Amino acid sequence: MSDGFLGFKTSFMLDAVVVSLVLIVPAILYSIYVVKFTFNYSLHRNLQVSLGVVLFLAVTAFEVDMQWIQGGWENVVQKRDVPLTDEQFQFVRKLLWVHLVFAITTPVLWGITLVLALKRFSNPPFPGPHSPLHRRLAWISTIDIVLTSITGLTFYYMAFIR
Ligand code: HEM
Repeated sequence: MSDGFLGFKTSFMLDAVVVSLVLIVPAILYSIYVVKFTFNYSLHRNLQVSLGVVLFLAVTAFEVDMQWIQGGWENVVQKRDVPLTDEQFQFVRKLLWVHLVFAITTPVLWGITLVLALKRFSNPPFPGPHSPLHRRLAWISTIDIVLTSITGLTFYYMAFIR
C-alpha cells in the first residue's frame, strides 16, 4: 500500500485530511473576520458553504480509503518503521476516541448551522430574526471544528510521526 505525501508511513487520503484540518482553521477565522469586521455577509455565506462541501468530500473520501482500502487505522499504524509499544498503542486508541467525539458532532452541527442559515437568512444574506440562534450555533460549530482539528493533528503526530 503506498504511503502518504507528507513523508510518513500513512496513506494519501490520511495526509489529505490532515492538510484540510490545518487549512480549515485559518479559513474559518477569515470567514468570521469577514462577517464581523467587514460585514460582507455574502462572502461569509459562500466561504462557509464551500468549506462545508470541501469538508464533506474530504471526510467521505477519507472514510472510504481508511475503512475499505486500508482496512482500519490499526493497519496503517503497522506500517511504522519503529512499532508503537503496547502502552503507546493504547494511548493512541484513547486519543482517537476523544477525536471521534468532536469529529462526529462537527458535521452534524455544521449541517444544522448551514441549512438553518440558508433557509432563514434573506438572499443576499443580512442580519435578521435568525441572527441570535445563528451566532450561538455558529460559535459552537466553530469551537467543535477547531477541537476536531487539534485532536486529529495530535492523533496523527502520536500515531504516525513520533
Ligand atoms: C456552518 C457554517 C457557518 C458558520 C460556522 C458561521 C459562523 C458565523 C459566526 C461565528 C458568526 C458570528 C460573528 C459574530 O459573533 O458577530 C456568523 C454571523 C453571521 N453569519 Fe454565519 N456561519 C455559517 C454559515 C452561514 C451561512 C450559510 C450564512 C448565510 C446564508 C451565514 C450568515 C451569517 C450572517 C448574516 C451573520 C451575521 C449575524 C449577525 O451579526 O446578526 N452564515 N456566522
